[in-house]
Amino acid sequence: MNEAIIVDNLKKTYSNGVEAVKGISFSVHYGEIFGFLGPNGAGKSTTIKTVIGLLKPTSGKIILDGYDVQKEPYKARLSKGYASQETAVDDRLTAYENVYLQGKFFHMKEEDIKKNAEELLKMFNLWERRNDLVETFSGGMMKRLDIAAALIHRPRILFLDEPTLGLDIQTRAAIWEYIRKFKENGMTIFLTTHYLEEADALCDRVAIIDQGKIMALDKPGVLKSEIGGDLITLTFSENTNGDIKDFLEAVKEKEGVKSVSEMKNGIYSIVVEKNGDKMIPELFALASKFNVGISSVRLKRPTLDDVYMKYTGRTIREAESSRDENAKNRLITRRMKR
Ligand SMILES: Nc1ncnc2c1ncn2[C@@H]1O[C@H](COP(=O)(O)OP(=O)(O)OP(=O)(O)O)[C@@H](O)[C@H]1O
Ligand SMILES: [Mg+2]
Repeated sequence: MNEAIIVDNLKKTYSNGVEAVKGISFSVHYGEIFGFLGPNGAGKSTTIKTVIGLLKPTSGKIILDGYDVQKEPYKARLSKGYASQETAVDDRLTAYENVYLQGKFFHMKEEDIKKNAEELLKMFNLWERRNDLVETFSGGMMKRLDIAAALIHRPRILFLDEPTLGLDIQTRAAIWEYIRKFKENGMTIFLTTHYLEEADALCDRVAIIDQGKIMALDKPGVLKSEIGGDLITLTFSENTNGDIKDFLEAVKEKEGVKSVSEMKNGIYSIVVEKNGDKMIPELFALASKFNVGISSVRLKRPTLDDVYMKYTGRTIREAESSRDENAKNRLITRRMKR
């Protein structure tokens, strides 16, 4: 299959010596939504900026829409749209002017800019506000405008760096819908996020990136199923007549059950390979056979955070807060040096 993006052993070390990307390889298929999931400082923005040719790689090769980004930068430039993490709209211009200017950057014909700008501003619900200065816009409106501007020249591949960072749930959901629509129209989308739900809900495939390295790469469902199945927790009624031990032995024998154990006093956990939801009625049927009363059941499916945990030994939130701690400590040291 022809690939939209091919990245081969990419390394990026900044001039201050920070090795932000430490030799990563991956490819993105045409027509898919591909996500880079990782905590603050993992190297997501560095990767995106290097892949689109904004930063020069320290080493490695990048092919974008068939063009070598380092050897044929101008051709590669036309294939891509990019909305950066820090929204790049000019707030002293109107919404329309921002989109128009972007079209001019790509040397588009006047009539094409007009046609595309109208279509995009309408699609992003900004048409009514097209003649207002962007400084009067909310954060969510600016983000939408930034993505609209990135699309003016109808790129085949769209790069979105943290498209929903800091947005409320409704705006985030709206942006997810736009992204899905672009995909339906055949566009390839590469996005970065540190929201687990976003990667899970939106991406066909996800690369988990941590400290400049890809730790895992696959469909979210596959990554989660590798974790080892669904977890069912059970508690029993106090006045149960039957024998809980016999019941648990029978559960152990069931097909698809990987383990049965007592977690805490009176709370039992059952790990099943998959389809934990289908197992629940079967557990009830078995319980009534053994005359055992079940008082509560919970089903927990593995999340991408569990996947992240498996590959890095911490949750994404822990990774982010430890980075915050590091940043704080660095700040304190710097102050003390002064
Ligand atoms: N211009 C730069 N000069 C030096 N170091 C940089 C520069 N930009 C980023 N870094 C460092 O490179 C590493 C990766 O940063 P990057 O911005 O790629 O991470 P990220 O995954 O996008 O994080 P976030 O989720 O916070 O956006 C960090 O340690 C960061 O401090
Ligand atoms: Mg970033």
